[in-house]
Amino acid sequence: MKDKRIARALAENLRALGVREIVAESPASALLGAEGPVDVTSEEDLSREGVIRREKETVDRCRKCGLGSQRTHAVYGDGNEYAEIMFIGEAPGAEEDRQGLPFVGRAGQLLNRLLEQVSLKRSEVYIGNLLKCRPPENRDPLPEELTACRPYLDKQIAVIKPRIIVCLGLYAAQAILNVKESMARLRGAHHKIGDTTVIPTYHTAAALRFPAYKQQIYDDLCRARDLAYG
Ligand code: SF4
Ligand code: URA
Repeated sequence: MKDKRIARALAENLRALGVREIVAESPASALLGAEGPVDVTSEEDLSREGVIRREKETVDRCRKCGLGSQRTHAVYGDGNEYAEIMFIGEAPGAEEDRQGLPFVGRAGQLLNRLLEQVSLKRSEVYIGNLLKCRPPENRDPLPEELTACRPYLDKQIAVIKPRIIVCLGLYAAQAILNVKESMARLRGAHHKIGDTTVIPTYHTAAALRFPAYKQQIYDDLCRARDLAYG
């Protein structure tokens, strides 16, 4: 487990530095028959990144629901494909639609601050949404939109295999847990899906309106961090 984390951190650092391959120059490489560049990512890494890239391209072209024709950019998701913690929000807003990236508007900036406060880096987690395209005027997702878009999220989760899923907001929590309970009830309970722990918490957009939620999100992020790395 520890080795895996170290390897993951090393690969992440190399990727952050823009390193995609290491060219071995020592005579040992000749002895080992390793001629030319040596890829720093393992076979599994490559296929994981490859699948995510392919899925993103599919979503960029998707018209399975009415939101497809209204978007500027689809927002597939962003972050580390090897993340232990995956965040799931509701749907892109105006800024996300503009940039094609999740949680980059005001709610995203609050999420960034909270992540920083609990010493989690955005580059080590993965962030996605239930819907990959923005609903007009940020209206609530429609059931048929949630149904049409769900396979992309399920695939994303299956590929990333996070140990922890943090659901941001009631829509995400209800969709992932397949229940209709209130956030107050869902937050108080322990949830597992297979080996994955699901932590429902308030949406950071709600915390912009009701600042008291910030402390509760903070507490839930601490729990996610401790479960993932503790
Ligand atoms: Fe396709 Fe999802 Fe966008 Fe609808 S919201 S068009 S299902 S990617
Ligand atoms: N709210 C969400 O649920 N997702 C985003 O990506 C941005 C805001």
